[in-house]
Amino acid sequence: MKEIIDVELKTRKVDFSECKTDLLAVGLFSDAKGLDKLNAQLNGKLDGAIERLIKLGDFKAKEGTNAVVYGNDGIGAERVLLVGLGEKKKATLDTLRKAASNAAKKSVEMKIETISLALHKAFGGRFDLSAMGQACGEGTYFGSYRYDEFITENDNGRLGSLKVELIDSDSAKLKKLKKGLLNGIAIGKAQSYARTLANRPANVITPVKIAAAAKELARGSKKLSCTVFDEKQMTAKGMGGVLAVGSGSQNKPRFIILKYSPPGKAVKTLPTVALVGKAITFDSGGISIKPSANMDEMKLDKSGGIAVLGAMKALAELSPPVNVFGIVPSAENMPSGTSYRPGDIINTFSGKTVEVQNTDAEGRLILCDAISYAVKQKCDIIIDIATLTGACVVALGKYMAGLMSNDEALIKDLQKASKVSGEKVWPMPSSEEYAKEMKSKIADLKNIGSRWGGACTAAAFLKQFAGETKWAHLDIAGVWNFEKVTEFTSEGASAFGVRLLTTYVVGLKRKKK
Ligand code: BES
Ligand code: MN
Ligand code: ZN
Repeated sequence: MKEIIDVELKTRKVDFSECKTDLLAVGLFSDAKGLDKLNAQLNGKLDGAIERLIKLGDFKAKEGTNAVVYGNDGIGAERVLLVGLGEKKKATLDTLRKAASNAAKKSVEMKIETISLALHKAFGGRFDLSAMGQACGEGTYFGSYRYDEFITENDNGRLGSLKVELIDSDSAKLKKLKKGLLNGIAIGKAQSYARTLANRPANVITPVKIAAAAKELARGSKKLSCTVFDEKQMTAKGMGGVLAVGSGSQNKPRFIILKYSPPGKAVKTLPTVALVGKAITFDSGGISIKPSANMDEMKLDKSGGIAVLGAMKALAELSPPVNVFGIVPSAENMPSGTSYRPGDIINTFSGKTVEVQNTDAEGRLILCDAISYAVKQKCDIIIDIATLTGACVVALGKYMAGLMSNDEALIKDLQKASKVSGEKVWPMPSSEEYAKEMKSKIADLKNIGSRWGGACTAAAFLKQFAGETKWAHLDIAGVWNFEKVTEFTSEGASAFGVRLLTTYVVGLKRKKK
């Protein structure tokens, strides 16, 4: 198997015009009148090449576009990449993140070894330099990523690594950029790690393999520890939800618990957050089998659980003062003679009984056990993340995740983290009306509601397992992948949630409320 591209990031104190590099990336706004100082200087040294290119209409600086200008003896760069930033008044940190993605993606395509980013320059003092450094780090990983570990034909191959440097001639500025860049590297790396795990097909990744990946993470950090329950242990504990969903497959289910403990001793006074992620390695639907069109995509049904692993990896690097549980119930949903069936009544870990009316509504059955587990661990806040419903994709499309919660303040905090991380969420209801639909005549609950509002009824089912604990649910069924290659990244798993969850936890108040 081929290694996924290796990205190396650092900062360098150098004047952009003297910067010896394979490619120098600079940003331009589409509504700017004339070139800014940096670009005007570059343009001068390039004998007006940038201006000519713009005058000819070959580059309009729209977001997601770029143009290459070749260097000369006057500057150190072999190439200058003009990266479009769109309209200045609309620019956010995500504009910079995407610009870095765009530049990194282009560089991988061009097989360029070393790139120097001066993209932050165009933003002036608009954002905090550290935040800009972080956005550049995250964006570089995101844009350079491609899932090619199983491609053995090398004629259109890529280089093994991409070396990226953020440049500035001012050491004070560089210092701030670097501080954020280190966070960006931790998060970017974790997101790429998660994308690879999520992209791997179900014959390669099984629940046991996900558990092995979690253990491996714990081996790599003193701040992480990992516990895995197998079928026997789950049976002893009464985790009937995970066991039922996993019962049809040869690949046995696992219940994975990663624990992050911050450095230092006063952990008792710090809040404890549970990140709960659905990890169905393949969702065939089970006995309520899915239609075969696009069923291959259901290898991505582990994306929530993998996003939790990614966030835990990043948190172990960033060391925020919060206790965090990463809880990942994992199973393969398959039809067979040993499968659970429609009509079955299962005993969940909470003690509540659930009538199974559709074996394809399996995510909520593994999540309810995990949410109950988090409640039993006395977590202050539970956030679950899951590719839970097609209904959420119908409602929101492929641009944002559904956000349901029993706590207004938690919704606000997640919206705030969403703005910073660029992973978008939209609030949706999970109130009593929806919960009522999930009542069964022969058990405490059933696992499907009526035809309508499927994302909301699913969330209302989960909500009942959180009880009094603050809880939020992210339905990432729409945002789990990119169907096509975009200007900012390649197709396949997005690992949505790694940035959002990490940003949320890092931003949490230190003291328990
Ligand atoms: N994993 C699917 C949800 C899904 C659908 C994710 C499309 C991504 C794209 C989930 O397990 C599922 O099958 N949900 C059913 C629920 C239904 C049976 C109540 C659905 O959405 O159809
Ligand atoms: Mn399903
Ligand atoms: Zn599923």
